[in-house]
Order: sequence, then C-alpha cells, then structure tokens
Amino acid sequence: MIAIAIDGPAGAGKSTIARALARHLGYIYVDTGALYRAVGYYMLQHGVDPSKEKEVVPQLPKIDVTIRFVDGEQRVFLNGEDVSDRIRTPELSMAASDVSALPPVRAFLLDQQRNLAAASHVVMDGRDIGTVVLPQAQVKIFLTASPEDRAERRRQELMGKGIHTDFAEVLEDVRKRDYNDSHRAIAPLCQAPDAILVDTTGNTCEQSIAQLIAVVEAALLKT
Ligand code: DC
Repeated sequence: MIAIAIDGPAGAGKSTIARALARHLGYIYVDTGALYRAVGYYMLQHGVDPSKEKEVVPQLPKIDVTIRFVDGEQRVFLNGEDVSDRIRTPELSMAASDVSALPPVRAFLLDQQRNLAAASHVVMDGRDIGTVVLPQAQVKIFLTASPEDRAERRRQELMGKGIHTDFAEVLEDVRKRDYNDSHRAIAPLCQAPDAILVDTTGNTCEQSIAQLIAVVEAALLKT
C-alpha cells in the first residue's frame, strides 16, 4: 500500500489540499484530527476537563471512535453516532488539542490510523503521521503557511459554516494551538527529517493544490 503522510500546523489548509490530492491520485483521504476532535467532544459532553489526564483516561474504555467512509467521504462515529459535523467548532479545536497532548489518548488512537493505512492507499493528514504513525510512508510532506494566512483561511472557513469570529481571535487561537501542538512531550508537531517542506503562504487554494500535486507526483516517481 502507498501512504502519503501530510503533517503541519492548524489551518495550513491541510484538509482541503490533502483531500484534493487524494481525489487526484484515487487514494482514500484520512483526516486524523477528527479522531482527536471526537475524543475531545466526548469529554466536553461528559463534563470532563480535556486537559486533565487523570480525568480523561478513565473515560477512554467507554469510547469507541471509528472512521468510516460514506460515498468516499470520511465520517467519524463516536459510540455509533456520526459526530462529523459537530466537531468543527473553535471550542472543539482546543479540546482536541488538549486531549492530543495526553499519551494514553495518542496510544488509544494509533492502531486505528495504522489499520486504515494498511487497508488502502491513503493520503493521511495530521501532526505526527510522518514521524510516528506511518514512519515508513512513501512520501512525507510538511505543509505550512504563515500564522496570519492560516488564521484568515480559518476565519473564512468558519464563516462559510455560519460561525462568525474576528481575525484577532482566530489568530490568537492559531498561535495557541501551534504552541500546544509543538511543545507537548509526546509526538509534538515537527517536520520529519525526510519530509518535503511545502509552504503555501500567499497562494490561493487552487495554487496550493497544484503545488502539492506536483511535489507528490515528483516524489512518487522516485519511490
Ligand atoms: O487537524 P485538526 O485541526 O482537526 O486537529 C485537531 C487537534 O488534534 C490539533 O490541535 C492537534 C491534534 N492532532 C494531533 O495531535 N495529531 C494528529 N495526527 C491530528 C491532530
């Protein structure tokens, strides 16, 4: 099986760009952030502080988080319920970032990610795909853009979903999550030594997609 690992910070357009790449290649697109979001969602629903390991860990055996594909699109199920549309709020972004810093949560979600990659050709996006989940991935990309660009993209994405936020607030959120995700003790966000850096600052979405497809196709030819 061929795996393309795409890692990078929040709001780099990973999901849109990686999904387009997967479609282009005919691979399955796996957004691993949805797994952490679903775990964070469970904690908030049950009044559990997502940053407290002692509170979160006893909940894990009660949780079944599964990725399934409906008409080729990923959906995430929490204890049998499709929560895909409910996990996209800024509150859930922060809860996901909090639970993702806890080693037992990362261990809890690891096999599922590996099993998905064992079953199909995948484009898998996350924070530690090239470094921890699929270190043997044929192509590794570290996709990034400036914090300002990422905040503006996130603001527009949220606006498209009817969630209105101001730029300063989103930028603050992006910076806080960057800090959390890259300073945690386990599997911090970092570029794998063998990952190709793709910086999409200043690009339109179409330009970023074209840039990524070109880089990945060139890299695949060398494998
Ligand atoms: O990609 P996203 O914004 O949906 O991810 C939500 C949070 O989950 C993010 O702050 C970090 C965490 N995450 C992670 O730690 N490892 C992954 N492979 C994917 C996401």
